Amino acid sequence: MAGLCEGRVVIVTGAGRGLGRAHALAFAAEGARVVVNDLGVGLDGLPGPESPAAQVVREIEALGGEAVAHGGDIATPQGADSLVEAALDAFGRLDTLVNNAGFLRDRMLVNLDEDDWDAVMRVHLKGHFLPLRAAAAWWRAEAKAGRPVAARAVNTSSGAGLLGSVGQGNYSAAKAGVLGLTLVAAAEMGRYGVHVNAIAPAARTRMTERAFAQTMAAPEDGGFDAMAPENVSPLVVWLGADASAGVTGRVFETEGGRITVMEGWRPGPTADRGARWTPAEAGEAAVKLLAAAEPPLPAYGSGPA
Ligand SMILES: NC(=O)c1ccc[n+]([C@@H]2O[C@H](COP(=O)([O-])OP(=O)(O)OC[C@H]3O[C@@H](n4cnc5c(N)ncnc54)[C@H](O)[C@@H]3O)[C@@H](O)[C@H]2O)c1
Repeated sequence: MAGLCEGRVVIVTGAGRGLGRAHALAFAAEGARVVVNDLGVGLDGLPGPESPAAQVVREIEALGGEAVAHGGDIATPQGADSLVEAALDAFGRLDTLVNNAGFLRDRMLVNLDEDDWDAVMRVHLKGHFLPLRAAAAWWRAEAKAGRPVAARAVNTSSGAGLLGSVGQGNYSAAKAGVLGLTLVAAAEMGRYGVHVNAIAPAARTRMTERAFAQTMAAPEDGGFDAMAPENVSPLVVWLGADASAGVTGRVFETEGGRITVMEGWRPGPTADRGARWTPAEAGEAAVKLLAAAEPPLPAYGSGPA
């Protein structure tokens, strides 16, 4: 039986370990040729020993698949542009981009250094924008040349971006930004045959295995290992395949055996007096509207005040 991604060329950023590695292997298992990007940094984004991308390429090849490694920094124009070039040089085309690379610098806001803010914004936001721009330029050129494009981009947000997460002001802001970028990219690129969606995953990787050790642990009785990163990849592969035609600008939470469509900001109770409010009147109206509104979901990690 032909795989879901037969003939497709797929880039996965940050695919040397964790979720990205699982995605790369899952795409290869469905017949895709894969560009495995990873800069090989530590958990905080500081330089690590070496890129683990080559190891994932060897794993894919050992299973009979085709892959090449790319060790560039996706948050630089040179790294992002050379990543798309690597796909074109090795395989002559690009069909799917999975933006996944990233790292954390967790601190409470009062202790959050400017460097930690900038580094996390850079890797997640710029690290989504630059590869997306490089891929979009190629897809637009293909569409303008009259060649059919059924391209897919899958961005990686987080529950922190959807609800906020205590101690992760930088990361939550960056991951919420990824959602905004996803909506705009989907709206702008649809006319060229490009679909853009986002996931908010949860899985056991080096990013989470210590902070959430208990929730992330594999069951000792050999039952379903819900937090294995491989559980997130099937939806990513489908979103990255031709089969997801018509699905764009959507956000999915995915972990274990569960997939949830996230429904975003939409107008709730509203009042319009047709003239300017005084501050006291605006407050009175806001209190009435809040009483009629759905209570918000709490930010992750926020206990009772
Ligand atoms: N693990 C979770 O539960 C979880 C939850 C929500 C969101 N996420 C997101 O999923 C993605 C993958 O996270 P993970 O848990 O697999 O983490 P991970 O640390 O296991 O993997 C991330 C990889 O990205 C690479 N990387 C970092 N900066 C890079 C750069 N500038 N260029 C290229 N590669 C770079 C790292 O070397 C690393 O191999 C991240 O965007 C993360 O924020 C993870």
